[in-house]
Amino acid sequence: MEVVRTRTELSASLGRLRARGRDVSLVPTMGFLHEGHLSLVDLAAERADHAVVSIFVNPLQFGPTEDLARYPRDEARDLALLEARGTSLVFAPPDSEMYPDGAPTVTVSPGALEHRLCGAFRPGHFRGVLTVVAKLFALVRPDVAVFGLKDFQQAVLIRRMSADLDLGVRVETAPTVREADGLAMSSRNVYLRPDERRQAIGLHAGLSAASALWQGGEARAGRLLEEVRRAIAERPLLALQYAEAVHPWTLEPASEAAPGTVLAVAAFCGTTRLIDNVELGRP
Ligand code: PAJ
Repeated sequence: MEVVRTRTELSASLGRLRARGRDVSLVPTMGFLHEGHLSLVDLAAERADHAVVSIFVNPLQFGPTEDLARYPRDEARDLALLEARGTSLVFAPPDSEMYPDGAPTVTVSPGALEHRLCGAFRPGHFRGVLTVVAKLFALVRPDVAVFGLKDFQQAVLIRRMSADLDLGVRVETAPTVREADGLAMSSRNVYLRPDERRQAIGLHAGLSAASALWQGGEARAGRLLEEVRRAIAERPLLALQYAEAVHPWTLEPASEAAPGTVLAVAAFCGTTRLIDNVELGRP
């Protein structure tokens, strides 16, 4: 496994990997890796001859009051995990390599989907995400890129970007990997104190209760979301930001659930913002 930090080194290494027509997959990350990230790396390694992983905490996607300065980092550990999972190449650039002239003036607009779900509470976040992912696509030119459904709106927007801008990158998604009690894995879970960690399960508990109700024949979205809100309200360390039922591609709110409808929730657990979602199956 090679680790490179500049675009020049990246381009040279990619040239070597692509020799003899081999294809390349990309998994963009912000590091502090867990099994969720590694499941994407496994899928990327299945989908192409060479899996490339990027590690870059992208300042452009953090709001002024968010956790950029304290975002967890442990590069040595990340590299050891990636080596063990069959990664060919890691691109871990400093800020100055990704944004040599400071914040870019031209950025990628997420369009109408920007203001839905998380976008309504994190102005500029998805513009920052799409801009850095577009740059990574341009630098790596992967055949396929893999994203987690834990960040559902992000995955939808990246798929749209690749299609709308003809970036030629096949976007694949992978299911959410969870802790034993159901909490969706996230680099930010390290922020949780033990009492917060116990209550953090409320998001998954609410979504599971709503799915069970749906399986039992309830299709009114309002009724399903009541279950989610109740599970959050029962846990005093959680503060709900939103609970919504949406169409899986347009993210338009649905009043009646159907197979494929996504229930999405965001809540603060102390000062840590948590998100989770579930796709409703066939009843
Ligand atoms: P990060 O939060 O590090 O996540 C990197 C990738 O891992 C994303 O595709 C995310 O959806 C996926 N992921 C995170 N937790 C997961 C889990 N529990 N199960 C499955 N997949 C999971 O998302 C970002 O970084 C950034 O926005 C990025 C796309 C790298 C752009 O900066």
